[in-house]
Amino acid sequence: MPEKKTYYLTTPIYYPSGNMHIGHTYTTVAADSMIRFKKMQGYDTYFLTGLDEHGQKIEKKAQEAGVTPQEYVDKIAGETKALWKLMDIENDDFIRTTEERHMKIVQKIFRQFYEQGDIYKSEYEGMYCTPCESFWTPTQLVDKDGEKVCPDCGRPCQPMKEESYFFRMSKYQDWLIDYIETHPDFIQPASRANEMLTNFLRPGLQDLCVSRTSFKWGVPVDFDDKHVVYVWIDALSNYITALGYGTDHDELFKKFWPADVHLVGKEIVRFHTIYWPIMLHALGLPLPKQVFGHGWLLFGMDKMSKSKGNTVYPGPIVARYGVDTLRYYLMREMPFGADGNYTNESFLTRANADLANDLGNLVSRTVAMIEKYFGGIVPAWDENAVDPALDNPLREHCAALPALVEEQMNKLQFSQALVEIWKVIGECNKYIDATQPWVLGRDPEKQGRLGNVLYLLAECIRFVAVLIGPVMPHTPARIFEQLGVSDESLKSWESLSAFGKLPAGIKVCKGDALFPRLDVKKELEALAAEKKQEKQPEPAPKKEEKKEPKKVEIPEGCVSIDEFAKCKLRVAKVISCEKVKKSEKLLKFDLDLGGEHRTILSGIAKFYEPEQLIGKNLVIIANLPPRKMMGMESNGMILSAVEEKEDGSEYLRVLTVDGDIAAGSEVG
Ligand code: ME8
Repeated sequence: MPEKKTYYLTTPIYYPSGNMHIGHTYTTVAADSMIRFKKMQGYDTYFLTGLDEHGQKIEKKAQEAGVTPQEYVDKIAGETKALWKLMDIENDDFIRTTEERHMKIVQKIFRQFYEQGDIYKSEYEGMYCTPCESFWTPTQLVDKDGEKVCPDCGRPCQPMKEESYFFRMSKYQDWLIDYIETHPDFIQPASRANEMLTNFLRPGLQDLCVSRTSFKWGVPVDFDDKHVVYVWIDALSNYITALGYGTDHDELFKKFWPADVHLVGKEIVRFHTIYWPIMLHALGLPLPKQVFGHGWLLFGMDKMSKSKGNTVYPGPIVARYGVDTLRYYLMREMPFGADGNYTNESFLTRANADLANDLGNLVSRTVAMIEKYFGGIVPAWDENAVDPALDNPLREHCAALPALVEEQMNKLQFSQALVEIWKVIGECNKYIDATQPWVLGRDPEKQGRLGNVLYLLAECIRFVAVLIGPVMPHTPARIFEQLGVSDESLKSWESLSAFGKLPAGIKVCKGDALFPRLDVKKELEALAAEKKQEKQPEPAPKKEEKKEPKKVEIPEGCVSIDEFAKCKLRVAKVISCEKVKKSEKLLKFDLDLGGEHRTILSGIAKFYEPEQLIGKNLVIIANLPPRKMMGMESNGMILSAVEEKEDGSEYLRVLTVDGDIAAGSEVG
């Protein structure tokens, strides 16, 4: 027997800094759908997901919760596994970076890099606060009586050098540029490859600081245990440590590496297509065949995120509408690669239109008619009763469907694959209207013709049931039960190799509606009520003694410090920037505010090319009310300075911050 072809797919390993929301669910469901599709086609598949449990952020979260970091991540790991079970995710492994099997190999990899000269020890310069044991960049320090002091404790800081390990990224830059240019499938969608080349690789890579001494919650460098390994070196390694790389039990590694696809959100494409390939190359390993950077599920115009609290959790939706409805919605609503908005309304509307109406009605009408006109027995196909003009287009379309779906799935275009399936469903519904079985049913001489109409519909439904399985794992069984298909071989991908394998004589069995119609208004209210309950009660504010505020006269034309403080100024890092179509003035910015994402539209297209601004730390007003421009919502304002030239023209430069500072830092 020839060996089965293998297929290895991964999701990012998520940070357990909070519970997983619908954004993480989106990637994981996409990965699961793809794996199920490949499995159905006979591939030997391996599906890895897990958690990225180290780093200062987790250490802090645990401290706030009053538990150890390990206790903190253990709890979220349990909840995440339960969520993936609820979502019917069939992962083969769940890697956690705090597991010994992973940490040991990360240490080994780090040591190898050091021994072969890819990592070297040097010094990181900054300002140091001894009591707090913290490094600060000059811009993070605050001014106190003319002296620069620690922003945490207010005590003076001293210039200090901290030793760190650095990875010689620059050494591999030309090799990587060449690799990306000669492997067009490596980074998908292709626009993201251009982004990597233009914004990061061609301008030149800096050596990367790959160890930390300022916190402990990480993988210790085993030959220098003052240091822990930088969290991205630790995290990226999961894709091979989970397969047993570097151990005596590396059968999985030998079988499945290189991965076929790493599925990731667009904000972490950079780590997966620059640092990770360089790490692998330095280890002498082949690169994954593809990194696919998908878009974001937005909430309004913002990226849904744990820190922002604008999250939707899958649990209540699944409880009300079932897992297949949510999986279908996630895979259908937006093209994989593009951003899309999540709203309860679009979810309910799609469930009604595509599932209750198109698919649900087709199945229930067909089964009901077979019961009514043929006593529930699927009639035989009669070559003498064919109406070529009506029957052939649908037969041919349905027979071609598996190939159309396969083509889209192989490009990870889940929504397009579903569109193809729903085209056949739509055509079936039109076929019912065109053939009018209820008219044929009145004429005993048309029995053969009616039999063909119903057979054709039943066979199309069988095709549909098989093909929706990867995205909607529960629904096929419910359809097969109604159609009376019990033979497993008729539920397989191979059984779609020819149209007409459905045997006559099986008995259909009308069941409950597959997807009951939803009352959108009522459901919206119910979902809103559930969301309210989800909110944790705010801790009661501490009572403070009332002090009479001192009245200060504010001269005309001035603002008080309190008024100024209402304006929330923040540092925002530009993740992406593009021209707004049909507008000469507007640029659209995707900004990182330190874990929170913002979209801002700004009328500065005359003064900048978008590429000039990517990666810059800008200053924004973060608490302006949302504003609609060109049909899009802008959430804030980018600050800039404008010079009026003598000839009356204007010259504009955006405000940036001096030096390196964390995105999201407050400005004031
Ligand atoms: O970045 N829309 O973890 P993370 C779409 N630990 N996808 C979303 C999403 C949204 N609104 N929100 C999250 C990390 N995701 C690192 C990864 S990998 C070696 C280390 C998905 O918890 C999407 O896949 O911030 C995104 O890339 C990932 O969750 C980020 O998860």
